[in-house]
Formats: sequence, C-alpha cells, structure tokens
Amino acid sequence: MLDFVTDKTHDEDRQGEAFAPFQADPNQFGKRFYIESYGCQMNFADSEIVASILHQQGFGATRNLEEADLIFINTCSIREKAEQTVRKRLTEFRKLKERKKGMLVGVLGCMAERLKAKFLEEEKLVDIVVGPDAYRSLPALVEEASGGQKAVNVLLSRDETYADISPVRLDSNGVSAFVSIMRGCNNMCSFCVVPFTRGRERSRDAASIIAECRDLFEKGYKEVTLLGQNVDSYYYTAATTGDEVPAPITFANLLEQVALISPLLRVRFSTSHPKDITDEVLHTIARYENICNYIHLPVQSGSSRILQMMNRTYTREWYLAKVDRIREILPGCGISSDLIAGFCTEEEKDHQETLSIMEYSRYDMSYMFFYSERPGTLAQKRYADDVPEEVKKKRLAEIVALQNRLSLESNLRDIGKTFTVLIEGNSKKSEQDWMGRSSENKVIVFPKNDNNLQKGDYVKVKVTDCTQATLLGKII
Ligand code: SAH
Ligand code: SF4
Ligand code: F3S
Repeated sequence: MLDFVTDKTHDEDRQGEAFAPFQADPNQFGKRFYIESYGCQMNFADSEIVASILHQQGFGATRNLEEADLIFINTCSIREKAEQTVRKRLTEFRKLKERKKGMLVGVLGCMAERLKAKFLEEEKLVDIVVGPDAYRSLPALVEEASGGQKAVNVLLSRDETYADISPVRLDSNGVSAFVSIMRGCNNMCSFCVVPFTRGRERSRDAASIIAECRDLFEKGYKEVTLLGQNVDSYYYTAATTGDEVPAPITFANLLEQVALISPLLRVRFSTSHPKDITDEVLHTIARYENICNYIHLPVQSGSSRILQMMNRTYTREWYLAKVDRIREILPGCGISSDLIAGFCTEEEKDHQETLSIMEYSRYDMSYMFFYSERPGTLAQKRYADDVPEEVKKKRLAEIVALQNRLSLESNLRDIGKTFTVLIEGNSKKSEQDWMGRSSENKVIVFPKNDNNLQKGDYVKVKVTDCTQATLLGKII
C-alpha cells in the first residue's frame, strides 16, 4: 500500500490495535473499557494515559470488544485516509451497540478535536467526544453519558502535559517504552492539521520525565523513546524556589539526563525538525554510547520552492548542510525521513529534486505519503490541490521504489559489520530466532543458538546477509 510506508514510530501493524495490560485482575473492576488507537506514537502514548485515568476510576481494560461497557477509539486526522479508517470502524461498533444496550462509544484524539460536536451529528452512535487535552475530564464525561446525555470536551490547553499521570503500559514488550516529553506544535507547516488538533506546543516537567524513565528502567525496560512533534524545541524551566532561579533545560540537557540514568538504558527520540536540531544535540548523542545513533529528520520535499510553500522554514541547501553535519559529528548515524508527493503546484522538476535529496541523504528508511488536503490548514486556504491523483501516485511510486533501493544499499553496506543489538523478542517468522535493533535502528534477526539470552539483553551480532527491510546475522 502506497499511502503509508511504516516502521516503528508510525507502525502500521499497530494501527487499530486494541490494548489491555496483561496483569489486570478480571475481578478487580466493575466496568470494562476497550481502547483502539490510530495515528502516531503520541496517540498510542495518550491511550496509556487514558487507561491510567480510567483505571483510577475503577474501570478495567479488556481486549475483548464483546465484554466492554465502554469503547474508545483514539483517532488520527493527519490524512483523509486515516479518518476514513476510523469511520469504517465506527460503523462496526454501531452494530455491536445495537445488540448491547447501555454500551457507550467514545471518540478521542485528533479527529475528536477537529470535528468537535459535529461528530455527534454525523455519527449518531457516538456518545462521548474528547480532545487530546481533555482526558482528565473523562470520568465525569462517562458519567454524564451514562445518564443518557451526549458528553463533549474538546478544550485545548496551554499547559496540560499529564506530567503527573503514570501511564498504564498497554501491550508492551517490556523492553522498550515511549515517553511523551511535550505536546502540541507551533510550527504551522502549511499541509499539517496537527497544530489545530493538538494545540500550542508545551514541554513537560523535566523531573517528571526523568522519574518516569528511571521507573521504567527499574521495572526492567531497556529502551525509552522520547516523543514530541518537534523534540528539538523542548524547553523547560522549573518553578523558582526561594532565591534559586533554576536553569532552563534544553533538549540536549534532557537527553543527557535521561542517558545518565544507566548506560544500560537506550535512549531514542522522535521527531526532529531539521530547522531546530542543534550541534549541541549531535554532540550529546556522540558523547553517550546509549543515546542511539539514529535521527528521524523529515525533509517532506527536496524543492526549496515547495518547502517554502509548505512553510518548513528551511531550504534544500540548509537541509543538505544538516545531513553533512550529522555525518561529520556522527559517522554511521542512521537517518530516516518523511516525504510528501504531489503537494500543491509540484512540478516534475520539484519531484526530481525530492528524488535527488533522497539519494544524497541516503535515507535508511522513509515514511512516504501523497499529499492529502486537510480542512482548515494554511495550504487548504491558500493553494489549490492541483496535482492530479494519478500524478501524485506515480510520483509516490517512484519515491517508494527509490527508497527501497536506498534501504537495500544501506543494509548491504552493513554486511560484515558487528552491532550491539538489544533483543526485543522472537522474530516474527520463527521462535528459533531473536529479533532486535542496532543503535542505528536497523532490525536484525539472528538464531538463538540455545544460549541463555532473553529479551532485554544486549548481544553482539555480526551481519552476514540482508533483505531490504532486515539484517540477518549471527551472535559472536
Ligand atoms: N511532527 C512531525 C510530523 C508529524 S506528521 C514532523 O514535523 O516531522 C507525520 C508526517 O505525516 C509528516 O512528516 C508528513 O510527511 C505527513 N503529513 C502530514 N500532513 C500531511 C498531509 N496533509 N498529506 C500527506 N502527508 C502528510
Ligand atoms: Fe505538523 Fe509541521 Fe508540526 Fe510536524 S512540525 S506536527 S509537520 S506542523
Ligand atoms: Fe494523527 Fe494526531 Fe498524531 S493527527 S499523526 S494522531 S498528532
């Protein structure tokens, strides 16, 4: 499928997955909720916050739709297709609701925020609509809806970060976890709906982030991924106590503090905006072995003219210089990207510039999309969505074909090299093989060899072969 090429942070395998914590005691809770998540990793992290809020109110999670009293769907608005998927799913919930009286359906996340109360008119079966900054009000809204009212809260906040809420880890592998460090986005890329659905950018209290990461490590986790739409603009100043004026904490400072929890805790982050990633961050990555050598650096387009219309605030040359800088300070660093084919007014020569910037940057992996006009965005207001769909699809297919070649070439370059791999679990294909990742975020599969390793262990693996998506190796 061309619209959405995925990997860990926008993992398509996980789209729509239902989660429930494994340890839940079936008799502990009176009512049960079921939650399904779509969209980016931040939405999945939010579902864990929602689960925590509902748990505290005595609701237990279930993976079984049939036994749920409350069904939540945490939605994404990034492309039209994401919204269509949710609508289709809602029609399935409708059938269930007809059979099961008293069951409530709640819509959470970005689509709830975008459509607000309109959702209730469009989708009669929906009882509750809650935007991403209003999850604390869920218990009250559920109560309201139980009384037969429709319940809505889509207020965005300037300061909500859910810093004090300890997420219930839903369906985790027990090895890697995602930790939100900020919310919202101030960037206003002209194609993007996120600033409207997620509100103003705000950074979460650094102390609460570090405490959450430390707690994860103490529970046996070996990898944390710090999440934000634009992590490089993380900036937090603690409240002044007495005469002491605390120094502000930048993203580089935060990375360092999380890395210092333990050399055995790997630190990743997503997403970096090319305009904001600093030398200080690159040097911090270089200084700590456990900060992974991998940067997701979405370019979107290789044409300066299109980048300007997208309001990305960098040019082709600026981006290329950033890639050079990364390769200079962090030789061997993995780099991946997001690309949009067929943005407004894009011509063949702009598209060729996208292909050439991919070639120059030698991306190990990319998420590739064709442009989908979103209501209310700057691009929708200012520009005509004038690239015909067949042209968008043809260009996207070329981008995908090029990325496939670049991914294979990148993997071929790794043959013969040895990597430290964090074991995440069995390989998808065989219980005889482990699957893990290198610091550069490459997936490596290798035979278990009967030694006493387990998931969460680090092991040195020499790469002997590869496919376009996976490195194959053996333990040394
Ligand atoms: N904050 C991240 C991206 C979040 S959205 C960043 O700035 O990099 C993830 C990706 O979806 C974007 O990078 C972009 O490539 C894609 N995307 C966003 N809006 C889109 C649209 N209207 N049509 C197609 N792709 C879009
Ligand atoms: Fe959207 Fe741009 Fe913000 Fe990313 S940085 S979330 S693409 S507005
Ligand atoms: Fe989608 Fe909202 Fe994330 S629109 S990509 S779920 S921030």
